[in-house]
Amino acid sequence: MRTLSLRLLVAAATFTALAACSGGGTVDGAPGGSGVRDPYFPKAGNGGYDVGHYDLTLDYDPDAEHLAGTAVITARAIRDLSAFNLDLKGLDVEKVQVEGRDARFNRAGQELTVRPADELDDGETFRVTVRYSGEPETITDPDGSEEGWLPTADGAVGLGEPTGSMAWFPGSHHPSDKAAYDVAVTVPEGFGVVSNGELRDEWTRGGRTTSTWHTAEPMSSHVVTVAVGDWETGRSTTDDGLPVYTAVDPEQADASRKVLKRLPEIMGWAQEKFGPYPFSSTGAIVDRAEDAGYALETQNRPYFPGAPDAVLLVHELAHQWYGNSVSPKTWRDMWLNEGFATYAEWLWQEDHGGDTARQTFEALYDGTYYDDEAANESVWAFPPADPPDAAHISDAPVYQRGAMVLHRIRETVGDKAFRELLRGWSAAHRHGNADTGDFTAYVEKSAPDEDFTEIWEDWLRGDGRPESR
Ligand code: TRP
Ligand code: ZN
Repeated sequence: MRTLSLRLLVAAATFTALAACSGGGTVDGAPGGSGVRDPYFPKAGNGGYDVGHYDLTLDYDPDAEHLAGTAVITARAIRDLSAFNLDLKGLDVEKVQVEGRDARFNRAGQELTVRPADELDDGETFRVTVRYSGEPETITDPDGSEEGWLPTADGAVGLGEPTGSMAWFPGSHHPSDKAAYDVAVTVPEGFGVVSNGELRDEWTRGGRTTSTWHTAEPMSSHVVTVAVGDWETGRSTTDDGLPVYTAVDPEQADASRKVLKRLPEIMGWAQEKFGPYPFSSTGAIVDRAEDAGYALETQNRPYFPGAPDAVLLVHELAHQWYGNSVSPKTWRDMWLNEGFATYAEWLWQEDHGGDTARQTFEALYDGTYYDDEAANESVWAFPPADPPDAAHISDAPVYQRGAMVLHRIRETVGDKAFRELLRGWSAAHRHGNADTGDFTAYVEKSAPDEDFTEIWEDWLRGDGRPESR
């Protein structure tokens, strides 16, 4: 009895220190936490609540590179909260309200801490409104690539992997907190805008054009995009009636025409391989080659700096299943995105007169895949399921060796079972999150007679090039 009450006293003292105690037996809320303790990006995301919906109203002037935004975020507290954080890098915050009442806030680095006038109760749904403006930043990733808000030759684009979206809207910027979105963007007349989901409405008034975009399916903030520029837009539908919306920089129109015509065909092929498409529209955004350093699987319609080839389009569309619908629990699980999207390339090539997946696997294993030796060696730098640090989450072991893990599984279970596995995995975690442990458990359950020990120990988690192939 005595030891127990001592522990309770210590707990009560901790709470009193964190939040003003109102007495009367009620335990007051504590701050929500500045991150979800991602092993690579510990401050990404926020503790204490779950976002359900983002309503972003953005006004962008490309000449001044000035953004003015209002974010209305609807979230549910998952414990009593005296304060909570949002991620936002740069920009000036003018006003924060919670449930329509002015809230105190302060900023430290990428953390915007909001202290509502009334504490939030566990389970309570609340709305936070943030009014902000300024010149959004381009963020340099740990690996040296640029994300966040990127001014382009004729506008700008928001690219968010892994943490860039905090450069242009406040939120819980971690893949574990997916949400629905409504995005309204206003630009000077003559500029065009493309975003995720479906175009709801578009109008021009007083020299300014607004378009509104709706995404009903859960979306991780790292695949949210707004692309401003001069766009040649195309609308069509796939054979199954799925809306296709493409936006192409006029300079890239000729180079993109043939490959984008194949988009419905690729979608049909991908659905055959990966199962039903998880979203309600598809498409692509093609900017100029110099506008960004990489392609990104922005939800519904991937972003390309320059016209992609069919294989790159396959890669980014495959991410819609693996990465955007089945999202990683943390950035350690990146190989579940990139290994699958890379394996999709191998499957596409195999089905279209190119190398078989086994041939691609062999070339990587033998060190003849790339022209230079260092690149071939880099495949063995670390195990796919455990990148050494944040600067390496998009290196060759995550992509190529990740795909090799899948190929080893395929050869263990056979083609028929492997097809079921690809489709089953995307169905099992549709619109959810999964980690490596979920994956190995899923594989083992789907083929209980096989032994995967060597694949897990040597290929997935082991150092160096495995002995056996
Ligand atoms: N996910 C992108 C792709 O495979 C590549 C990428 C862009 C990336 N930016 C990144 C990967 C930042 C890791 C981190 O097409
Ligand atoms: Zn990828």
